[in-house]
Amino acid sequence: MTNDRPFLRISGGHSLSGELRVSGAKNSALVLMAACLLTRDPIRLRNVPALTDIAGMGEMLFSLGGRVERKGDALELDGSGIHSSAAPYELVNSLRASFFCIGPLLARMGTARVPMPGGCKIGSRPVEEHVKGLKALGAHVSIEHGVVTASIPGPTRRLQGARIVLDCPSVGATETLMMAAALADGETVIENAALEPEVVDLADLLTAMGARVRGAGTPTIFIDGVDRLHGADYAVIPDRIEAGTFLLAAAITRSRLRVAPVIPTHLCAVLSKLEQAGCRIETDGDGIILSAEHLTAVDLRTQPFPGFPTDLQAPFMSLLATAEGTSMVTESIFENRLQHVAELQRMGASIRSQGNTAVIEGVARLSGAPVQGTDLRASAAMVLAGLAAQGITEVFGLEYLDRGYADFEAKLNAVGASITRLPASARSGHGVLPT
Ligand code: EPZ
Repeated sequence: MTNDRPFLRISGGHSLSGELRVSGAKNSALVLMAACLLTRDPIRLRNVPALTDIAGMGEMLFSLGGRVERKGDALELDGSGIHSSAAPYELVNSLRASFFCIGPLLARMGTARVPMPGGCKIGSRPVEEHVKGLKALGAHVSIEHGVVTASIPGPTRRLQGARIVLDCPSVGATETLMMAAALADGETVIENAALEPEVVDLADLLTAMGARVRGAGTPTIFIDGVDRLHGADYAVIPDRIEAGTFLLAAAITRSRLRVAPVIPTHLCAVLSKLEQAGCRIETDGDGIILSAEHLTAVDLRTQPFPGFPTDLQAPFMSLLATAEGTSMVTESIFENRLQHVAELQRMGASIRSQGNTAVIEGVARLSGAPVQGTDLRASAAMVLAGLAAQGITEVFGLEYLDRGYADFEAKLNAVGASITRLPASARSGHGVLPT
């Protein structure tokens, strides 16, 4: 129930100024943590954000016999004590990314039993590309009672390099198979691989661990399997989705903000759409400065990288709700990622959605209201809308927001926002609470 959860109370209409610091990339750190299963040596990951998803992956590794210790913004990971190849259902069910452990677990232990991650609010989230790829590498894989059981037949208990063609450029499947192939016997070629920066980050960590990986960031990745991998000390890339969210905070409040660190090539499609809408963008060392005054409508369609990222579709729609003119947004990656439309309508946005497309008529001003974040990125979108809205907005669904944004309200308050995190008992009670 929403009404027993803390929420954010936002007083809208403040312009922002200063610099927003970007944390390490959640969707990279999660898979880099799984890679520690591939070696008995310690691994230090630096620039790891303090998020509930990261804690969840730590629990997963601990349940398998690994050790994870946080030291400031670094994690010390020790996979030497891995004694189990069976991942617990409740951890995989609560954190889909923990399914990515199946590849390294299988390569390390010769067997792996990992529950299907199941669907979530944004879609069914299938994993057949992961399964097909593991079979191509020589594993026996069965799915019974919601559990994927993989094992490597034969005396060597070692995967065999293979040529794998993905039906879709799945980020998770590409990462799972890269990790499995790193210890396989022979060369693996992954065709139609995902191009996302997080895939490149994983390839860079694996290389630092002694793996032989070429082509990450292109549609064809080559991995020459090695007998063993060693430890590494590695810094996670900045979170491009958090950076994009902060740039949108500057745009929606018509402010000038510096966002850093950020790697501009990780956000080309987003920067292009922001400029098309009328934002002024300058790159400045390791940061980007965005300033915005009058903004106009743009159309966008989410695509695999380097196209417009699905994870910024909801936050960008909040901006379009306040931009002059008619915008069309098409979500082509996930089948149910427009649930924030209804919440934005509660704030006075003029949006019509049909299937995976929404048509947005910009309005002069959104009005504050109690709203529900329906997934991680939709929660952030509602906070952005609250920053621009007239009056008070109460955003529920912080269990989603805290999965992907560290110190979100503190960072925004430091540049002039007015956001307070309150217990459910402090609810204003005006309007009908979202269910
Ligand atoms: C990763 O999820 C990210 N999560 C997601 O971020 C992100 O939205 C997504 O990539 C797309 O960029 C992590 O990295 C932990 P996919 P992943 O496999 O790997 C279909 C966030 O908010 N597909 O690339 O699960 C799938 O249905 C989260 O931070 C298959 O059909 O995404 C979807 O339509 C949300 N079969 C599309 O591919 C498969 O076997 C993209 O999924 C696998 C995927």
